[in-house]
Amino acid sequence: MSDNKEKARERAREVAARFAEDDDAFGWFDALYKEAAGNNEMIPWADLEPNKYFKVWADDTELKGDGKTALVVGCGLGDDAIFLHDLGFKVTAFDIAPTAIEWAKKLSGDRTIDYSVADLFKPDPQWLGAFDLVLEVYTIQPLPLEMRNEVMDAIAAFVKDNGELVIVTRGREDDEEPLELPWPVSRKELSRFETHGFKQTFFDVMPGSVEDLPIPRFVAVYKKA
Ligand SMILES: C[S@@+](CC[C@H](N)C(=O)[O-])C[C@H]1O[C@@H](n2cnc3c(N)ncnc32)[C@H](O)[C@@H]1O
Repeated sequence: MSDNKEKARERAREVAARFAEDDDAFGWFDALYKEAAGNNEMIPWADLEPNKYFKVWADDTELKGDGKTALVVGCGLGDDAIFLHDLGFKVTAFDIAPTAIEWAKKLSGDRTIDYSVADLFKPDPQWLGAFDLVLEVYTIQPLPLEMRNEVMDAIAAFVKDNGELVIVTRGREDDEEPLELPWPVSRKELSRFETHGFKQTFFDVMPGSVEDLPIPRFVAVYKKA
């Protein structure tokens, strides 16, 4: 990982801790995007390219949209929304941080992507059970551990019958204590999706890359019955 990204991660933890003192689990995201003032090096997760672990799965499965609908949850600067759009999906993408959405719109140029500022826990009712593909990248892991089931339930609710859900997250063993933000997700926690009628169709553990912390990434794919 670059020094800049390491500094950005430390700063994100400081800002998150400040908001946590007021029991605010979400406000720090927009504060961080605002503070970055257009410099993505100050956002730990923002690489201005599609998530590389998701891209491996998409390339291997020759993912194509063919006009199907996709929802990107907590889309940040929109790199994955842009990727799915360019694969032929009709993309809706949302984030709780207005500054991220404004920035994502700029980076998306003239692509037709339906961006919204929205809270995962108060979504547009029309999104429920509405999408062929729902993608979640690193949105479960920075939210408080005690909200984990609630976060996963809210994400699951967007998938259409026979639709697919793709999760990309830092992973940890079931018996490992998550130490610091972002708190990796365990396989046991992910099994929550199976209680919503999802069947896991793919699971891979990918090593963190050379520039990154050596924390494994889980890519988990589910089909809704
Ligand atoms: C770690 S970032 C990942 C962003 C993006 N998925 C990526 O990989 O670049 C988590 C994102 O989730 C968003 N987020 C956090 N809580 C949210 C909520 N309740 N509703 C919608 N978005 C949320 C944050 O604003 C942030 O952009």
